[in-house]
Amino acid sequence: MRRVVTIDGPAGSGKSTVARIVADRLGWRLLDTGAMYRAVALAALRAGLDLADEKAVGALADRLTVSLPPGRVLLDHDDVTAAIRTVEVTRVTRFAADNPAVRRRLAAWQRAFAAENDTITEGRDQGTVVFPDASCKFFLTADPVERARRRHAEFLSRGESIPLAEVLRDQEERDARDASRAIAPLRPAEDATVIDTTGRTIDEVAAIIEAAARSCR
Ligand code: C5P
Repeated sequence: MRRVVTIDGPAGSGKSTVARIVADRLGWRLLDTGAMYRAVALAALRAGLDLADEKAVGALADRLTVSLPPGRVLLDHDDVTAAIRTVEVTRVTRFAADNPAVRRRLAAWQRAFAAENDTITEGRDQGTVVFPDASCKFFLTADPVERARRRHAEFLSRGESIPLAEVLRDQEERDARDASRAIAPLRPAEDATVIDTTGRTIDEVAAIIEAAARSCR
């Protein structure tokens, strides 16, 4: 049986960086589920759909394929690794995330991925909804201002200039929406280990999760 370690948490909690490091060290595959929601939102934008049209966006998700070869994100056969990280796509991804048909479709892909690979999966609902039986679950948090600073630095490093205050405001909106939505809200699984990453180094957090993953069955 394949092993699954789930890492959930809000944007900027450090989960993506930590998940990547731990997956590399263990030689396991990384499942970036946020990238999948972003890719569906990007596809809907490109198709000129009204993102609030649940039926149309759900049907689109059924027609397309999002795949995650190591280090890349493919939408059908198009490499969208960079295109899904823009401020614009970050803002509209909530429409994909709030859409029940999209969530069903992506959860099925996520389970199929983990059936084939030892997996470190990161997202919002991995320990609660998609892999409730995973034996190793983590939930990362961090101070909101520190999280916004991390996201802001990421946007700047990609050449997108946006005020920190705006990143913080967008983040507050996304957190509130992620935590309060009816399906798959952002919350720690009851059996998750919660780690506050504020003031901790990425290496410290990665070491904790790596050690747990090695003894995880
Ligand atoms: O993790 P990332 O910031 O890339 O995720 C983008 C958005 O996708 C999140 O704000 C959240 O709304 C949504 N998401 C989700 N469920 C997941 C992963 C991401 O709803 N498992």
